[in-house]
Amino acid sequence: MSTLTKLALGMMGQLRPKPAQGDTLPKMALPAPQKDGGMALMEALSKRHSARDFAPKELALSLLSNLLWAAYGVNRPDKGRTAPSALNSQEIDIYVALPSGAYLYDATENVLQLVAASDVRHVTGYQDFVSDAALDLVFVADHSRMKLVPVAKRESYASVTTGAISQNVYLFAASNGLATVIRAWIDRDAVADALWLNHDQQVLLSQTVGYPKG
Ligand SMILES: Cc1cc2nc3c(=O)[nH]c(=O)nc-3n(C[C@H](O)[C@H](O)[C@H](O)COP(=O)(O)O)c2cc1C
Repeated sequence: MSTLTKLALGMMGQLRPKPAQGDTLPKMALPAPQKDGGMALMEALSKRHSARDFAPKELALSLLSNLLWAAYGVNRPDKGRTAPSALNSQEIDIYVALPSGAYLYDATENVLQLVAASDVRHVTGYQDFVSDAALDLVFVADHSRMKLVPVAKRESYASVTTGAISQNVYLFAASNGLATVIRAWIDRDAVADALWLNHDQQVLLSQTVGYPKG
């Protein structure tokens, strides 16, 4: 679907998910993430960049698990995460839009919980490549977890956490030969509807990840 068509549908409030493809599971157990190895940090930083051409090829579950752990996994016994959050609110949820459905990443249990049995990828942005890539991440702030943060600061602090998560994804992608781009140009109402979000939840940004085309 072209960007223009999406813009028109979005203006009419009609940007909707497509039917799911493949096996839609209510819960997907992720393999234990591999926490060692990978490219040296300085080399990954040298290769970090945004890319917008994706091959229509899925990621193996083990690679997806590693990616999500790098993004915002639990990395300490006290349930600390790979990205910081104000007052350790851990207010960001990562939704993973796959061809088989949209899932919520549960970092503690290391599982993906189904939230929508549809292909939400093309709803996650106006740009056409979002439907071709293996997956689109959606970063959602849950304001109900930020009760200790002053109201006026909540959105900006949640955006800072999202930026840190996004950079984790960029570095993981650089290290693993994947392509990625963070995106703000999205129809937030359409995404919120597709993911069945409640009024405490705010869609901040989306990030496409997949194999580079060619
Ligand atoms: C907050 C933010 C929003 C962005 N939104 C989009 C977007 O909607 N679509 C897109 O293609 N790129 C988007 N980008 C990616 C930027 O265009 C990209 O980072 C910039 O051109 C620099 O390129 P580089 O990431 O390769 O260094 C966004 C980046 C940031 C930080």
